Amino acid sequence: MIIAIDGPAGAGKSTVAKILAKRLGFLYIDTGAMYRALTLKALENNVPINDEPGIIQLALGIKIDLLNNPDGSLTVMLDGEDVSLAIRKARITQFVSDVAKIKEVRQVLVKMQREFKEKGDCVLDGRDIGTVVFPHAQKKFFIDASAEVRIQRRFKELKGLSQKVAENEVAKDLANRDKIDSTRQTSPLRQAPDAIYIDTTNLSIEQVVEKMFKLLNG
Ligand code: DC
Repeated sequence: MIIAIDGPAGAGKSTVAKILAKRLGFLYIDTGAMYRALTLKALENNVPINDEPGIIQLALGIKIDLLNNPDGSLTVMLDGEDVSLAIRKARITQFVSDVAKIKEVRQVLVKMQREFKEKGDCVLDGRDIGTVVFPHAQKKFFIDASAEVRIQRRFKELKGLSQKVAENEVAKDLANRDKIDSTRQTSPLRQAPDAIYIDTTNLSIEQVVEKMFKLLNG
């Protein structure tokens, strides 16, 4: 079974996807982490983000593993190295949407995402899971929240990772990424027609998970 979770940055997708996957005994696949890993690889190899052929070349040779840990957390491996923390740095966040808008990059990573299905039942979160990666997913959710709440959540998350950021920087970054992610030509962020929309603005994580769980079993 495939559960697709899409929505804008900071809506809480990955938090609820992780909990849901653990509760169901499904694999959790963070597709955003894959675009982030490629962005890190580009920066590490001094490939400029606007060098599309260079980025595509890196994508074709990339090896990404997403390891589900027993405590529900995720370890992201890039070419055999643990990059779980490195891919959350502001510098990666700043450039990742520009990497993710390249058509050929998406083709390579979408193919990898579809292959996870062979490993078993999966919960995947991203921007195009229900529309492009798994259009026939058995259950689709579109998780949203007001811009103010998304900024607050992302701000708290970064503080939790001990990253020093100003709140207005987080707001600027989210607005910028929302714009690029939803206006790009290839697979822009869209709600699939058969996805269930959940506005999490006034809901706790537990309330969102409970709601999704009921909808899955209902
Ligand atoms: O969910 P995130 O913030 O880690 O995602 C990082 C970026 O990757 C985000 O700005 C958009 C892009 N992305 C995408 O284009 N398609 C996906 N399926 C997942 C993420």
